[in-house]
Amino acid sequence: MRGIVLAGGLGSRLFPLTKVTNKHLLPVYDRPMVFYPIECLKNAGVVDVLLVTGGTSAGDFMRLLGDGRDFGLRSITYAYQEGEGGIADALRLAEPFAAGERIIVVLGDNIIQGNVRASAEAFARQPRGARIVIKRVPDPERFGVPVFDGERIVGIEEKPQQPRSPYAVTGIYFYDNHVFELIRGLKPSARGEYEISDVNNAYLARDALCHDVLEGWWTDAGTFESLLRAGRLVAETGANHVDGPLDGHGESE
Ligand code: G1P
Repeated sequence: MRGIVLAGGLGSRLFPLTKVTNKHLLPVYDRPMVFYPIECLKNAGVVDVLLVTGGTSAGDFMRLLGDGRDFGLRSITYAYQEGEGGIADALRLAEPFAAGERIIVVLGDNIIQGNVRASAEAFARQPRGARIVIKRVPDPERFGVPVFDGERIVGIEEKPQQPRSPYAVTGIYFYDNHVFELIRGLKPSARGEYEISDVNNAYLARDALCHDVLEGWWTDAGTFESLLRAGRLVAETGANHVDGPLDGHGESE
């Protein structure tokens, strides 16, 4: 399985912090934000990573991450996203890198306390389709929100005003190689972006979307509040734990 970190976007919710740099280069406690999703991929067993970024700070990622050796990766590859087409548009650039293999995608501002190894193993046993990771949160309206029929997810609504469940779809996604064909079939949303929730809904329409509930805390770091929370959680409990039971300290619910 190959790993992809999506680290583009304008980071407009963090302006002026993002006026002269990319959001994913900002510090979260003692490390640049992008270190956390890379570590998350590594803990899931990934050795080849593609980083997709854009804007004027793209070269800084190469200076920071180099060839990936410091992370114990076999390779790190870089792709450049022109414009601001959204998450699914950025993912489109990963098609040659994926080379027909399955992928795990992590949004560059997502940080977890533990790891997604169990989900990666479950996905490896899944004959086809996609797998998402969800987490109960106090503010689901900020995220993609799953709609349930019993235990089953029947839809995902992107930033709904009236969330129909207390869960967020985290920015950690497992996809088979049909994802690129599904992206080609997408239409831009009302905000003019290609939405990752539409990719997940396309898998749902094929009855090929599984999910896990994440253990341990999860946060994004794309707003002032969540960036501050991310720094505090990392300082208090550390991130990307590989082993050991998670005691739920610092839970976001
Ligand atoms: C994106 C996705 C959303 C997901 C979130 C996780 O939102 O569109 O579905 O729940 O990431 O961090 P963004 O915060 O980039 O607008």
